[in-house]
Amino acid sequence: MIIAPSILSADFSKLKEELISIESAGADWVHLDIMDGQFVPNITFGAPIIKALRPHSNLFFDAHLMVQNPLNLLQDYIQAGVNQITVHIETLKNPAEDLRTIAAQGVKVGITLKPSTDVESIKPFLNAVDNILIMTVEPGFGGQKFMEDQIAKISEIKNLIKALDKKITLQVDGGINKNTIQKCIDAGADAFVAGSAIFTGGASQYKKNITELRSFSQPSKPKD
Ligand code: DX5
Ligand code: ZN
Repeated sequence: MIIAPSILSADFSKLKEELISIESAGADWVHLDIMDGQFVPNITFGAPIIKALRPHSNLFFDAHLMVQNPLNLLQDYIQAGVNQITVHIETLKNPAEDLRTIAAQGVKVGITLKPSTDVESIKPFLNAVDNILIMTVEPGFGGQKFMEDQIAKISEIKNLIKALDKKITLQVDGGINKNTIQKCIDAGADAFVAGSAIFTGGASQYKKNITELRSFSQPSKPKD
């Protein structure tokens, strides 16, 4: 099980300290939400901030690009030191070629889709990715309510992954907390982004917050 705190919910005035805190609290990946104010109605940060953070952590840098033209600044993200780049199917002009272009840079590549986007849209490209990210909120903001209706999508994609002879992480993002994570585990997710559930209570609580999410690491028993 991979726990990926989203620094979207961190204190932006001390990102370096926040990054160090989640690493020592037991995070597996750090999730970097990059928004351009075009694809989503919010702006966060870009490659220069990631580059400044990179020397301060050994965590796997998991970039989630919520931008209209994800290939435009690809080289900048690579040079900033990200380990994985997940892009939205809605933003790709030639998905097969675009995913190949990213993978050719030597990073892991992921595909994601908005809650209203159908699984069919990503089906042809599953073999080309290392990570599939299911959005369980409308992308753009942290702290939103988990969308229960996306659980069926997680199960559907899990079955598609099983049929492939490839190791692909199935990641969920949005509203993940102690009340929602179990449903995602049961549906087959194995990587969990959490912003507000982890960055709450100050740095002294991060370990407790991460450990609490990790305590759900086994599928729950089927109901009698
Ligand atoms: C939303 C982002 C998420 C968000 C998760 O667009 O992709 O990563 O930060 O935050 P929480 O866990 O608070 O929903
Ligand atoms: Zn995200």
